[in-house]
Parts: sequence; structure tokens; C-alpha cells
Amino acid sequence: MASALSVSDLSLNIGGAKILDGITLSVDHNETLGIIGPNGAGKTSLFNLLSGLLPASRGTIHYGGREITNSTPYQRGRAGIARTFQTSSVFNNLTLLENVRIAAQAALGHSMNITKNAYKFSKAVDLAKESLQQLGLGKEMHHIAGSLSHGDKRRLEIAIILASQADLILLDEPMAGLSVENVPALVEIIRSLATVHKKTVLIVEHHMEVILGLADRIAVLNYGELIICDTPEKVIANPTVQAAYLGASL
Ligand SMILES: Nc1ncnc2c1ncn2[C@@H]1O[C@H](COP(=O)(O)OP(=O)(O)OP(=O)(O)O)[C@@H](O)[C@H]1O
Ligand SMILES: [Mg+2]
Repeated sequence: MASALSVSDLSLNIGGAKILDGITLSVDHNETLGIIGPNGAGKTSLFNLLSGLLPASRGTIHYGGREITNSTPYQRGRAGIARTFQTSSVFNNLTLLENVRIAAQAALGHSMNITKNAYKFSKAVDLAKESLQQLGLGKEMHHIAGSLSHGDKRRLEIAIILASQADLILLDEPMAGLSVENVPALVEIIRSLATVHKKTVLIVEHHMEVILGLADRIAVLNYGELIICDTPEKVIANPTVQAAYLGASL
């Protein structure tokens, strides 16, 4: 079977600076790939290229066997790629249900016009409710998103992704800003994306214990280059990784 995602020689230059340089890696269906590296290593930039927010300066991206290097973010979303951002990005003035229903409507392939298509609208509402319940947010569905705690907002973002029916999920530091006691529950939710929902997951995270507990393989970026992409055991044992990253942070 073809990889879910493969990138070849992927590079990003901004104003003469090499932000990413010659990244080549592939991710299997239903795999969880951890991405680590020091601040400024290029992790978010890689997600920006994968989701189409920034154009690649060089190289190719294939998803589901098709080249998407020049596809728009919208086209990639339609093809099944979804991402969360380093800072939470939900609509604070809308209810949880409205936040998730918008994603469900898009996934069901119809417009935001409620009056025109009541039946499809109700299907989107059902899908949204199901996603919220799976994330343990069913009771709060009519609350406005702005009233949620930081941890619950992260859950809401994952409910949105589930409702969008994406297959490839890019999570950029999902634990950022969470209090320590909320981390294990979110780890289990993220684990369930692969184990229960059979998604392919790329996760950028600074918490090493989170990455080690979730990832099938780990990619290490340093100054825009991919140092290694291998099993957690091999990554930890790699001398270059230890020198460049682990040595400084563990
Ligand atoms: N739009 C941009 N214009 C100029 N430089 C940028 C831009 N986006 C990113 N960079 C630079 O690219 C490098 C990589 O940034 P990036 O945000 O991808 O790192 P990161 O690995 O996600 O870091 P962090 O762990 O802090 O989130 C940094 O030096 C950053 O300053
Ligand atoms: Mg980042």
C-alpha cells in the first residue's frame, strides 16, 4: 500500500533563510509520527507546508498517492488533511456545537445555507454531537467556546477534526499551555485517534514523555534539517540527536 503521506526534498526558504532544507520522509496509514526538535527547528513550518499555508520552495508532497504540492489549503482539507495550531483556534463566540457543526457540514460536502437543505443540516448536527460526545464535551455543547478551559478548548479542536472526517491529522503542540494534571487525558484522546478512529497522526510536541508514549516513529528536526526518522529507541540512542537536542533538554 502507498504511504499516507510522503514528502521528498521538501524545502522552504524565506528571504534567503533556509527554514526547511531537503526533508524526505513518509508516513504510513494509521501511523503516529512524532516530530521533535529545538525551538525554531522548523516543525511548525513543516506543518505549514503540509497544510498548504505556505508554498514549498522546492520538493514534493504526496498524499494518498496523489501529488498535492501545489494544492490550496482548502483542497487539502477536502482531501482529508486537518491540523490544529500551536495556539488554540476555535470561534470563541460560537457554541461548541456550532464550532463542530461547521466542520461537519464542510465534510458532508454542502454549503453553510441552513434553510436550503434542512436534512443535510440535521445530519451535520448529528455528526457534530457524536464528535463532541466522543470527546466528553456532550453536556457543554450549547455553551459558547470562549467559556471553556484551555484543556477543553484543545478537546474541542479535536472534536472539530473528528467531525471534519479528516484522515491525516497534524497536531502542533497540543499540550501547550495545559496544566500537568490535564495532560494524561489528552494523551489518551490523541492515542484514540489512531487506535479507535484509525487516523494517521503527525504530532509536534515538546513533552518528550508524551511523544515517547504515543509515537510509532519520531522525526527529529534541527536547523531545518531532518536528522533522523526512526523508532523511539533508535532516536534516543542516536548520538547526533543526543548532542543536538536530547542532551540539552533531558
Ligand atoms: N513567515 C516567516 N518569516 C520569516 N521567518 C519565519 C517565518 N516562519 C518561520 N520563520 C522562521 O523559521 C524558523 C522555524 O520556525 P518554526 O516556527 O517552524 O519553528 P518550530 O520548530 O515550530 O519552533 P517552536 O518549537 O518554537 O514552535 C524560525 O527561525 C522562525 O523564526
Ligand atoms: Mg512551532
